Amino acid sequence: MLKKIGTVELKPGMFVVDTGISWLENPYLYAHEGLVGSESDVRRIRDEGYLEVFIDTRRSLFGRDPDGVSDEEILSGALQQLEDPGVLEPQVPVAEEMRKATVLYDTTVRYARGIMDEMRDKGVVDMSEAEPLVDSMLGSITRNTNALVGLAKLRNVDEYTYTHCINVGLLSMVFGRHLGFGPVTLARLGLAGLFHDLGKARIPDDILKSPRRLSPDEFEVMKGHPGIGFEYMRERGGVPEEVLEGVYEHHEKHNGLGYPRGLRGEQISVAGRILAVVDVYDALTSRRVYKEPMLPHKALSLMYGMRGQDFSPGLVERFIRCLGIYPVGSVVELNTGQRCVVSEANLRNPLQPRVLIVHDSKGRPCSPRPLDLAGQTAVRIATCLDPVGVGIDPGRALGAM
Ligand SMILES: [Fe+2]
Repeated sequence: MLKKIGTVELKPGMFVVDTGISWLENPYLYAHEGLVGSESDVRRIRDEGYLEVFIDTRRSLFGRDPDGVSDEEILSGALQQLEDPGVLEPQVPVAEEMRKATVLYDTTVRYARGIMDEMRDKGVVDMSEAEPLVDSMLGSITRNTNALVGLAKLRNVDEYTYTHCINVGLLSMVFGRHLGFGPVTLARLGLAGLFHDLGKARIPDDILKSPRRLSPDEFEVMKGHPGIGFEYMRERGGVPEEVLEGVYEHHEKHNGLGYPRGLRGEQISVAGRILAVVDVYDALTSRRVYKEPMLPHKALSLMYGMRGQDFSPGLVERFIRCLGIYPVGSVVELNTGQRCVVSEANLRNPLQPRVLIVHDSKGRPCSPRPLDLAGQTAVRIATCLDPVGVGIDPGRALGAM
């Protein structure tokens, strides 16, 4: 199991994991993967100023943790503590919604690129187009959540800055809807997500694109980005409170160790808490120049290990329930050897989503064939795969239904 601990708890024999979490926003996270050899290693890590570290308890030398507990079992265990969410059924099939959602996603990427460039170059942004775009995204989510959530996985590495803003916006709306919020609040969560990193446009490039770990002074500058975005939008006027709170508080942590204000627990607004979960999930599952994307179920399992520290108690569990153990767009192998793309999450039984079979049992590409795993007794998901490694493009497969 992946667990986040303070470096004060780090011991020789523990196995450190590189999660790919950006050290740009987490310079105090030690992420040099491998076994910690000795007490002097531990001292060095602490002396270099690292405060936190992710460890994999299954790979430690202590061997106390039961082997063979999969991420799926951890996630299933987390979900057993939650009540049945009451499923919001899609209004249209995902294939029908996918066409509209693709056009909308591309339009929103162009808009997001525009606002970040304007903010950087002119110090002002035209926010008037944001509301209709967010309303359209909400419409798509209401018709069939799976289309936009699937598209969020198609991100282009070069466009990360923009797709990340959009994904945080749309996933915040999806999560908020799952939590039972109405359309007005959901649209505000969408706007907060879209603008959450606006302040980064004012952070100097030598910090924002630094190829090395930031110095404490540089990190102080970086920590200013939520406040810069917040101040800009507050001065501009007419921006709803939830949007301002979401932008200002998306890096606050439940345990008070976040920034910029070090708020803790219920001091953090609901919008701030939701954005914090979604922001980390999208960052972990994104492909970046310097890292491969983490598989969604691994990212969720890792975030489950951060519950009660970074995130409000219970919130990660609900996010897992919202996305499913195998979120839409995940590539999985069945016990039959067939490979599939998850096309619709099953919120009642997250281990049994709807899938599209895209490779036959011998690993040969085949024309996509839908299969509902719900109620199947002999066929089940055996493992989750890296789509690139097996040559499957989940977006194309989903669009091809
Ligand atoms: Fe941020």
